[in-house]
Parts: sequence; C-alpha cells; structure tokens
Amino acid sequence: MPKYVVGAILVVLVIFSSIFVTIVGGSTYMAEIPQSDLGKHHEEIWAHTGWNIHDPFMTGADAPTPASRGKTVFIREGCWWCHTLLPEQTQDWTYFGDPPEAGDVQGESPSLFGSDRKAPDLLHIGSRNRVKAWHYVHHRNPRAVTPGSIMPAFEYLSDEDMDALVAFLESLK
Ligand code: HEC
Repeated sequence: MPKYVVGAILVVLVIFSSIFVTIVGGSTYMAEIPQSDLGKHHEEIWAHTGWNIHDPFMTGADAPTPASRGKTVFIREGCWWCHTLLPEQTQDWTYFGDPPEAGDVQGESPSLFGSDRKAPDLLHIGSRNRVKAWHYVHHRNPRAVTPGSIMPAFEYLSDEDMDALVAFLESLK
C-alpha cells in the first residue's frame, strides 16, 4: 500500500476518534464538576433558557422569571456580539470582577462567554455601580448618557422586554 494511503487512513482515524471522544467523554466531563452556588443561583433565576431559535421559548414569552426572559432578549437582540460575560485578563479582573469558574456555568445553556469583545464585560454588571434608571435611559439611547457610544439604541423594545432585560442585567452579580 502506498505510504500516502496509510497516512490518509491515519488522519481520518485520528479525526473520527477525536470526534468520538468529544461526544462521549465531553458530555460526562461537565457533569463531574460540582455546580457552584452562583451556578445554582443562575439555574434558579434563568431556568431553562435554551439555545434554539425554533424553540418557542426564544420569544421569551413563557419564560418563568423576568431575569430568564431577559436572558432570551439579550440573546435575541445580539447584545453578545459586543459584550462578553467573561473577564479574561488580569486587568479585567480588577475592573470587571472575577472570571467565572467551571461550576458557575454547569448546566447552563447557552453560556454567554463571548469571544470577541467590543464593549465592557457584563458578567458582574449587577454588582457594579449602575442604577436601574441608568439602564433604561442607556438602552433606549446610549448616547444620551455615554456620548460617542457605538452601542445601538434599543428604543423599539417593548416595555416588557426592557423590564426583563434590566432584570437579567441586575441578576448578573
Ligand atoms: C455594537 C456593539 C454593542 C451592542 C450590540 C450592544 N452594546 Fe452595550 N455597550 C456597547 C459599548 C461600546 C458600551 C460602552 C459605552 C456605553 O456605555 O454606551 C456599552 C455599554 C453597555 C452597558 C454598560 C456597561 C458598563 O460597564 O457600564 C450595558 C449594561 C450594556 N451595554 C448592555 C447592552 C445590552 C443589554 C445590549 C443588547 C440589548 C447591548 N448592550 C448591545 C456596545 C454594544
């Protein structure tokens, strides 16, 4: 058998065995990590927010709590295009607060870590010095309170969506 055929077979084998290990082993890995108190708190208030646009739950209408409804609004409106929920560098930790631990996101789907941040991290926004009214004004018109902000104005959101969104932000302790 020519060497390149053996090489090709090996490459295919490695790819398929990696996929197999990820599918079988990956799902058991998170289950071994005990859920932290923060993770339990999130599960309680965000309930079962699922990442599936066909899920009627994504409309947020039947979400059990305002904060869990707010999480679906956050996802639907694409806030995560600009905001992470993952402070990553040491200078982040001084300003944005501690990074999450694995147990904080156990069972959470989707987690909103984000990867490409264009705006402040929001993991602990509920503990930073923002009053509720600020969020309402800022979401309707960011430039009214932060001149030059590139954040879009979400003035078209219904009052219910806006209340839910603010409840979600406040739940991010
Ligand atoms: C195009 C990028 C972009 C999108 C999309 C976006 N934001 Fe922002 N956001 C920013 C920028 C930039 C800032 C910092 C300037 C400011 O305060 O407006 C910011 C600031 C914030 C702050 C204040 C953070 C702090 O540390 O003071 C909150 C809260 C916030 N955004 C929430 C949201 C929510 C909720 C959504 C979705 C409904 C959203 N953002 C969508 C860019 C964005």
